[in-house]
Amino acid sequence: MTSESFGLMTPERSHTAPLQEHIDRAIHDLIASCPNAEQLSPDEQRGIIARYTAVLEGNFIYWMTAAYLSVVSQQAHSIIQENLREEVRDNHPGMLRKFAIAAHAVPTDSDALVVYRNLENVRLFVARLSGVKIVLMMAFFEGWITRFMPYLEGLAKRQGSAEQEYTDVHGVVDVVHTQELFRALEAEMRLSHDPLPPPTELLEGVGLLRSLIQTILHLRAAGPALAP
Ligand SMILES: [Fe+2]
Repeated sequence: MTSESFGLMTPERSHTAPLQEHIDRAIHDLIASCPNAEQLSPDEQRGIIARYTAVLEGNFIYWMTAAYLSVVSQQAHSIIQENLREEVRDNHPGMLRKFAIAAHAVPTDSDALVVYRNLENVRLFVARLSGVKIVLMMAFFEGWITRFMPYLEGLAKRQGSAEQEYTDVHGVVDVVHTQELFRALEAEMRLSHDPLPPPTELLEGVGLLRSLIQTILHLRAAGPALAP
């Protein structure tokens, strides 16, 4: 048994519960704000898939790696390592690229420019390597991805695609990943000797990622896309 194991069932769960509730609400609000697919033009449908791909394909593993580099507890390291192993071993970026190709929604320069500013904000946040905050952001990311899969799959079908491996896999595995990341969070909080910052500060990465996801979903609400 590691020294961390002795901390199980201590008040850390009560620390993470309000954070989980905040994240659940944020995910619920994002899902509820998805535009009605029936009212989108084919190009608007393509745009959501393309921007999703532009954000996820090259950044998910990089941000999870940043989480790995930022945490200090043995338990968090092993949970995140398992997550990364699955991403790499099962070629999730390749799976997503196949999904985008089949839906005729490979990201263009314009799609990349639309998400540029909010994507860069998340990158700058991740670069600070703040363990608890990045684990929170990734738990939010995994939770949102899972809930978003039926909508994403519906858009792809409207684009004439029958490719569902990416959405099938991520509608299932990310439920477990989210729960595991909250366990990693508890382990990190247990090891923290300093008083934890207030939730608003801990949720900084969640807020930045939420803005980025809003840009994926709502092209027109994203503000100026150019001039990074
Ligand atoms: Fe994945």
